[in-house]
Amino acid sequence: MINVLFAARPERWEAYSTPLKAAFADAGLEVDLRQDHTPDTVDYIVYAPNGPLSDFTPYTRCKAVLSLWAGVEKIIGNESLTMPLCRMVDPGLTAGMVEWVTGHVLRYHLDIDRSIAMQDRWEPVIPPLAMERPVTMLGLGALGQACAKQLFQLGFPVTGWSRSPKSIDGIACLHGDTGLAQALKHAEIVILLLPDTPATENTLNAETLALLPRGARIINPGRGPLIDDEALLSALDSGHVAHATLDVFRVEPLPADHRFWAHPNVTVTPHIAAETRAVTSAQVIAENIRRGEVGEPWLNLVDRKQGY
Ligand SMILES: NC(=O)c1ccc[n+]([C@@H]2O[C@H](COP(=O)([O-])OP(=O)(O)OC[C@H]3O[C@@H](n4cnc5c(N)ncnc54)[C@H](OP(=O)(O)O)[C@@H]3O)[C@@H](O)[C@H]2O)c1
Repeated sequence: MINVLFAARPERWEAYSTPLKAAFADAGLEVDLRQDHTPDTVDYIVYAPNGPLSDFTPYTRCKAVLSLWAGVEKIIGNESLTMPLCRMVDPGLTAGMVEWVTGHVLRYHLDIDRSIAMQDRWEPVIPPLAMERPVTMLGLGALGQACAKQLFQLGFPVTGWSRSPKSIDGIACLHGDTGLAQALKHAEIVILLLPDTPATENTLNAETLALLPRGARIINPGRGPLIDDEALLSALDSGHVAHATLDVFRVEPLPADHRFWAHPNVTVTPHIAAETRAVTSAQVIAENIRRGEVGEPWLNLVDRKQGY
């Protein structure tokens, strides 16, 4: 019997326990899934950073911590977490992110807000075609790549930027500091899907925002610290950046007195771009436990040195 501790918020148990049990059975695993195992009997921990567990020291037998979250910035620094840590790459979450990003790119591209504001007049708003609207994706991981490919399918010229060099059909792939400048130079819409690490903090700052063409739009479903808030507000005030759609913030919920709430050219969404989906993520968790039991390499193992 494999003992699996479910250490997410207790109210998530209802949504996750049945899909997890079904996925374990499908994978041929005999699992005792509970919210309250004795720590030194636990083999795996299904984990969410906003759950009840922060000290991993008593979990002496635990083979891996399997996060339900894609971003691991809240746990990577936890010194009691010495076992392998796997983050979540969930096909359901990825599909949700592709839909959210595509929707917000099309809102900008088609100038949907202006069309709605002008609906009492017969004055057509004709957008350019997607092929005339350069889009830049900062981050070409599980999510950035899926979104970039969808935007390319719609006809947008897509430039992508990552830490290491990449080759992706249809996407102009850049990396490193010079790559970032290049990626921003012609970007009419910029999307951030980078992890929150010391190296990515303030990727968009006064200097890099100034590289964008005037009137660029920014969509951030990545993490708040990727953008220097004050620099973005200055760029929005001057009109250099026309609009920003922000799903993630340095402090969440976004404090009531933050200027983003009232700024006419900012759309705030409450960290809803993409949720982990219980059924699809349960299959990923089960596959990782199966791998752990037969000694195969983990899926989505976090590189602690890089921080993601
Ligand atoms: N708002 C939401 O609802 C929501 C939901 C899920 C996830 N997220 C956020 O989305 C982020 C991305 O998720 P993912 O699954 O796509 O992550 P991922 O697969 O780890 O991809 C991260 C990408 O960022 C690049 N990167 C990392 N550090 C960099 C640096 N210093 N310079 C340039 N590029 C860098 C990586 O480059 P390499 O390819 O070279 O490694 C990779 O392409 C998560 O970390 C999380 O913060 C948000």
